[in-house]
Amino acid sequence: MAIQNTILVTGGAGFIGSNFVLSWRETVGSPIVNLDLLTYAGNASNLDSLRSDSGHTLVQGDICDAELVGSLLSEHRPRAIVHFAAESHVDRSIVGPEAFIRTNVQGTFTLLEQARAYWSGLDEAERSRFRFLHVSTDEVYGTLGPDDPAFSETTAYAPNSPYAASKAASDHLVRAWHHTYGLPVVTTNCSNNYGPFQFPEKLIPLMILSAFEGKPLPVYGDGGNVRDWLFVGDHCSAIHTVLERGRVGETYNIGGNSERKNLDVVTTICDLVDEMRPDAVLGSRRRLITFVKDRPGHDRRYAIDASKIARELGWQPAERFESGLRRTVRWYLDHLAWVENIRTKAYLGWIEQNYAERLAG
Ligand code: NAD
Ligand code: TYD
Repeated sequence: MAIQNTILVTGGAGFIGSNFVLSWRETVGSPIVNLDLLTYAGNASNLDSLRSDSGHTLVQGDICDAELVGSLLSEHRPRAIVHFAAESHVDRSIVGPEAFIRTNVQGTFTLLEQARAYWSGLDEAERSRFRFLHVSTDEVYGTLGPDDPAFSETTAYAPNSPYAASKAASDHLVRAWHHTYGLPVVTTNCSNNYGPFQFPEKLIPLMILSAFEGKPLPVYGDGGNVRDWLFVGDHCSAIHTVLERGRVGETYNIGGNSERKNLDVVTTICDLVDEMRPDAVLGSRRRLITFVKDRPGHDRRYAIDASKIARELGWQPAERFESGLRRTVRWYLDHLAWVENIRTKAYLGWIEQNYAERLAG
């Protein structure tokens, strides 16, 4: 059977993956097979609006399962794989790195091998049309000083956390599968995302919900660490652009030109929650900010030079940080049922494990 217009997405029930799947079905419309293990971070409810959409097939399964990946490829004959699936939280990688090596390194290796076998069996025209798009992070480049130039595609890799190291390893595998076997790959390295459906263990949703509930807002260290924030919809549009027009074998940095100190982000969230849900008893939510023990090896600053993707492919972020953050706060406050649904026992256990000692100290 010939190659189809279908794409195989991995990790499409997670934060960025589900935003990508939803926008792809709405704007592009071609079929998606979505392979997701539905770990604590994957939520089928993110895709509730696609329940009666026959163009979306959610398969609960592991990217480390070679047989499953191989059978999905031969059954659905996709024209591309868009690979989001990963363990993605730095603090969890510090507490338990093994799952990161398994999914991010072994899982990417398994996908690459299955993709290579499938791609090798295509005819020449189909082989040149096929793409393996690997979604990665700016954290592979390590940390920057206050005056250092932003990360470019030629910045040397210097990962500092187990998460960053596992993503760096996966990037190297993807590169080698192109160089050695000719697999048509493209890799994207993106800065910190925020927006709807982000699991509330990450800074922005955690702070929105804790501010709303009047809980302490745990800022690591002095709060002076800097991240370059990108609205998730802009990341999805960049991935779409790279998938259709990116040059094979290349990497593209994606960023929001929105460097902010953590403390400034948290303060802004406090003010937005005060405005949208004033609470006379709590008063200003800024009072909830609590400086806690720092993350070991905490990278000080990330910044992305996204001029290559702008120059070559004409992509630019559309959302400004202030408006995107306002939209995001509004989304969480309007979706408290979604929040309740994903706050499982495992989630509560993680919050207890990560913050009990930090808040006590
Ligand atoms: P996430 O943790 O919200 O979602 C990850 C998804 O992968 C979940 O749905 C989970 O169930 C699934 N998954 C995990 N292990 C799996 C396995 N073995 N097999 C199949 N599915 C599995 O992550 P995210 O924030 O959406 O990140 C998606 C990708 O983007 C990751 O590769 C991450 O490294 C990268 N990235 C994230 C950010 C960010 O700010 N969140 C920034 C740059 C790059
Ligand atoms: P996070 O959302 O975990 O993303 P990453 O570590 O991948 O950048 O954290 C963003 C920043 O916020 C990072 O500098 C760590 C900091 N942070 C806190 O200060 N407190 C928290 O409770 C969390 C989860 C993060």
